Amino acid sequence: MIRRIWQSAMIRLAHSPGMTRFMQGSRAGSLLSRKYVAGKNPEEAIETASDLLSVQGIRSSLFYLGEYVDSQELVDLNIKNKLAIAEALGTTDFDIHVSVDPTQIGHSVDPSKVPENAHRSATTIKQLTGNRSGVNCMMIDMEDDSVVDATIRLHDQLKQEGFPVALTLQAYLKRTTTDLQRQIEAGSKVRLVKGAFVGESDIAYTNQPDIKANYYRLVEQMLSERSKEAGFYPVIATHDDKIHRFVIDKAAEAGWQQGEYEFEMLLGVRTDVAKSLAESGERVRVYVPFGRDWWPYAVRRIGENPRNALLLTRSLFS
Ligand code: FDA
Repeated sequence: MIRRIWQSAMIRLAHSPGMTRFMQGSRAGSLLSRKYVAGKNPEEAIETASDLLSVQGIRSSLFYLGEYVDSQELVDLNIKNKLAIAEALGTTDFDIHVSVDPTQIGHSVDPSKVPENAHRSATTIKQLTGNRSGVNCMMIDMEDDSVVDATIRLHDQLKQEGFPVALTLQAYLKRTTTDLQRQIEAGSKVRLVKGAFVGESDIAYTNQPDIKANYYRLVEQMLSERSKEAGFYPVIATHDDKIHRFVIDKAAEAGWQQGEYEFEMLLGVRTDVAKSLAESGERVRVYVPFGRDWWPYAVRRIGENPRNALLLTRSLFS
């Protein structure tokens, strides 16, 4: 209950234009941005990705910040940065792995333009990928429940057209069992998260034990025999080490080799856990956000754990 209230409050702060201007325009919060964000430009993000890979063997998914944008100018800027980051990754040995939110590329401005905008990033990634090895794709993030249908349609259309895409699904939504099964049958790549949003009880699990229990059920679905046969690629995106252990055991039981699935975590969260997974031979990726528009993203991370209240207070007064 406390967590739900805390999370809802932080989501409201994430959507507050006044707070966003204040935090991003002053030194307040620099502690937060340093913890969760890899700097302001693609060069700094690539440097972080390079350190993660060379020091810890951890791969990255790069994400240019700027969600829920409501002007064409910002949509254009987001697309320009998505393309720049894909091209910059293309000059390295890293995976060309770029995360994209539908509201970054126009969902709130003109939803009919989103497929065209998504095509631009997906085409660049496809061209750059060529024959290179690794996991190269445009990973589509999932936002609040009003965008879920459109996001899945976008993913499915791009996949059908042969673009390298992957989709994020959320365990807090009751519909995910059905959505996931469809993606398994299609041999997709799916990143499973608990969900950084809250929903009403008719469509969503509203407390942590229920969300977690659903996450376990969905993991079993992802690591089923059918899923392996269909060429599905499971991405387990959580910082919950009990789930990591469950996945490792289930995967071994069902005959999945390390590298046929992966774990993904967020930059700045439980880095020790990511490191030890990588050291044990698991494929691990870290979501590396960068850009000037860091506040809505960082405050949602704060909302994921009431214990982060102290970090928020320190960042405001440091
Ligand atoms: P959970 O909250 O159960 O915590 C597990 C452990 O990790 C606890 O010990 C906890 O304290 C610690 N922990 C977790 N988050 C922390 C934090 N911020 N600070 C400190 N400790 C923390 N959501 C979404 O709706 N759409 C999306 O597209 C994505 N994309 C995405 C990509 C990746 C790679 C990840 C890892 C997560 C997302 N998310 C997301 C966010 C996700 O839905 C969820 O809100 C967070 O991952 C938190 O839930 P966990 O399952 O990690 O752990």
